[in-house]
Amino acid sequence: MTRKLRNMAPGLRAKNQFLVMITPTRDLPVELKDDVLVVDVPPPRAVDLGKLFDDVTSKMPREELPRREVRAKLIGSALGLTTNQARLAYSQVYAQYGRFDDRGIERVTYAKRQVIRESGALEFWPAEEGEADVGGLDLLKAWLKKREMAFTEEARQAKLPYPRGVVLIGIPGTGKSLSAKMTSGLWKLPLLRLDVGAVFGSLLGESEQNIRRAIQLAETVSPCILWVDEMEKAFAGAGAGMSGGGAATRVFGTFLTWMQERKTPVFVIATANDISALPAELMGRFDRTFFLDLPNDAERRQIFLIHLKRAGVAFPERSLRLDTLVESSRGYVGREIERLVREAQFTAFADENREMEQTDLEAALAETVPLSKSHAEVIEHLQKWRKEGLASPASSEESRAPAGRGRVIETA
Ligand SMILES: Nc1ncnc2c1ncn2[C@@H]1O[C@H](COP(=O)(O)OP(=O)(O)O)[C@@H](O)[C@H]1O
Ligand SMILES: [Mg+2]
Repeated sequence: MTRKLRNMAPGLRAKNQFLVMITPTRDLPVELKDDVLVVDVPPPRAVDLGKLFDDVTSKMPREELPRREVRAKLIGSALGLTTNQARLAYSQVYAQYGRFDDRGIERVTYAKRQVIRESGALEFWPAEEGEADVGGLDLLKAWLKKREMAFTEEARQAKLPYPRGVVLIGIPGTGKSLSAKMTSGLWKLPLLRLDVGAVFGSLLGESEQNIRRAIQLAETVSPCILWVDEMEKAFAGAGAGMSGGGAATRVFGTFLTWMQERKTPVFVIATANDISALPAELMGRFDRTFFLDLPNDAERRQIFLIHLKRAGVAFPERSLRLDTLVESSRGYVGREIERLVREAQFTAFADENREMEQTDLEAALAETVPLSKSHAEVIEHLQKWRKEGLASPASSEESRAPAGRGRVIETA
């Protein structure tokens, strides 16, 4: 088949004729790449869906037709679906409820979730985390809270631009992923996680099509948050001037262009443990880069409290000596504190399900070697972001205790 098509090409060219191939996927054989121009057909627009909706409801008596606002919402919530998917969703709504009302909007949105799930590269991420689940990071929180209302109609009228995105870089386990989830909770916007690994397909052009499709889908649910976790793994070595020029570079290029040109309120949160491998042009497309350092004394206290309460310790301030724990956990990150609290919980439970005690926590502390000690060089390398002012600190100096973080590195 491929051979035949290639043989046809010169003849077609001579006669100025074109062969049009229609396919739902971009699985084009490599041999044809130089002879074929690929045109993406976008999913139907709102007007198209409006016509479709009117067509589906054309036989309904006038008094049963939905109100204008409901109609508009039914159409809006179907954006991103194909014509057939939308028709099916509308039919299902009618079959289930016998009419078109708010329940229908939910049903159509549900159909879209399904499509997003099947797209492979995007995932609706349930995010119930709030500010109280994240210890410390006061500057990051303040920045986010200032933008809480930025996606409202009121903000549009005040001519406020949409926030575009942030990069959270820092030491592993300091709450970068957690902060992405918190933002979704704080802003009450859906969180869509982009799985860059799943974007890469084996066939030519497939990866670019996948990323374009994912972006398109995200735009149809906007305002929303698009979360690219561990971005450095996804895009490492994909920048301009990098060798390779493979799928990663093209996917990255597509993403970069979109970051630059998009008009839709899709806020991008990218997290990374290290971005020195990332192309510089990427960073300029975000509003700000935050650096998450080792938590200071005040922050570790908060993190201890969060996880102790979660472990069922009702009054940790009374039943435990927090100061000692804060003192001896210098150099530990949030994840490590969470783990050692959990360890202490197991110890207490295994011992006839008694209350957690100070010694359980201290034993767990003594057992764990924090990353900042085992991999001091990694932390030091990262802290250059703070020292050189390459990123904004996520926590304020004031909240830093006198014998702050530097000490860990000195003693390590
Ligand atoms: N600042 C924090 N406050 C409370 N818990 C934290 C904090 N940082 C980390 N944790 C705990 O550690 C877990 C892992 O953190 P995560 O956000 O995945 O780290 P990162 O993405 O920076 O590597 C979180 O789910 C949370 O339970
Ligand atoms: Mg993470």
